[in-house]
Amino acid sequence: MKVLVTGGAGYIGSHTTLGLLEDGHDVIVFDNLANSSVEAVRRVEELAGKKVDFREGNLLDADATDMVFAECDIDAVIHFAGLKAVGESVEKPLMYYRNNVVGTLNLLDSMEKAGVRHLVFSSSATVYGAAEHMPLPESLPLDATNPYGRTKEQIEDILSDLSEADPRWSITLLRYFNPVGAHESGQIGEDPQGRPNNLVPFVAQVAVGRRDKVVVFGNDYPTADGTGVRDYIHVMDLAAGHLAALRYMWKKTGTFRWNLGTGRGSSVLEVIEAFSEAAGRSIPYEFAPRRPGDAARSYADASAALTHLGWSAQRSLAEMCEDHWRWQSSNPSGFAREN
Ligand code: UD1
Repeated sequence: MKVLVTGGAGYIGSHTTLGLLEDGHDVIVFDNLANSSVEAVRRVEELAGKKVDFREGNLLDADATDMVFAECDIDAVIHFAGLKAVGESVEKPLMYYRNNVVGTLNLLDSMEKAGVRHLVFSSSATVYGAAEHMPLPESLPLDATNPYGRTKEQIEDILSDLSEADPRWSITLLRYFNPVGAHESGQIGEDPQGRPNNLVPFVAQVAVGRRDKVVVFGNDYPTADGTGVRDYIHVMDLAAGHLAALRYMWKKTGTFRWNLGTGRGSSVLEVIEAFSEAAGRSIPYEFAPRRPGDAARSYADASAALTHLGWSAQRSLAEMCEDHWRWQSSNPSGFAREN
């Protein structure tokens, strides 16, 4: 199959691109390199021993998006391209709505024109908002609490409406929990620009000496050790979830929604402990007040993906930390040229 991967140079996109190539598919990556690196694509090609058709471009450029469909005989699209920083989305909501929602509308217009009607969309557990029903099932009403989350929610609504209106579409919404880890080679991984917002990239930068200590946001939550609990999932398991979804939806139409998580929660302190074990060094941390908008706990009901896709996450928190550490320690500055 020929698969267009928007945002394929980014963290989850690059790992999924590798999985697609290894599964025998041809991949076209369309990416504006806003928060990603062409070096990731180069390394994916090296790992797979196969070329990617890389095209630098922006979904906000409708002509450029149309052109990709005109030039390549695309069968299906996996759509990762989007901005993803919660804090930034609060400060610059228009940028988020334009980039994520308008970008997706352009993509859908181009797909429609080209008669391509298979789409996997990169959604997020953030659409469940402050829901306290643990584990979180796909059937919960959506209630995102910030502009970033609302872009995911709105795109989910747009896609459901589209497949309702035109039954030829086949759409899968994948709601990721907390992706961490890296390909086991240590060649590709997450490369956040500036100060990482997310826990594991921050812990990794402390472990490698780029930052002094981890700031733990809150130790007074109603959890076993007082710190926030999340469902961390290995990025390679996540990539496998995309391949399983693509296989499942290929001969079906309609909208499918799956949580991609492990179904298990780990606290901030458990993550620091596991990372410290993986890196073989102690990781200093200090407690600070809660981060506004954070929930005490969030973990998936991952049973639907197992039942329907035959997919479940295989890798433990220890493996997530070991693989993340291999990537971080062999690429202390990420994909930057000085490495
Ligand atoms: C965050 C976003 C979520 C997004 C996801 C993408 C918020 C409120 N939520 O989820 O919308 O989909 O990233 O991966 O930003 N923590 C610390 N110190 C840190 C960083 C985090 O203690 O320096 C804690 C947090 O309070 C939380 C846990 O670590 O309990 C995980 O945080 P994070 O990695 O940012 O993920 P989420 O908040 O779950």
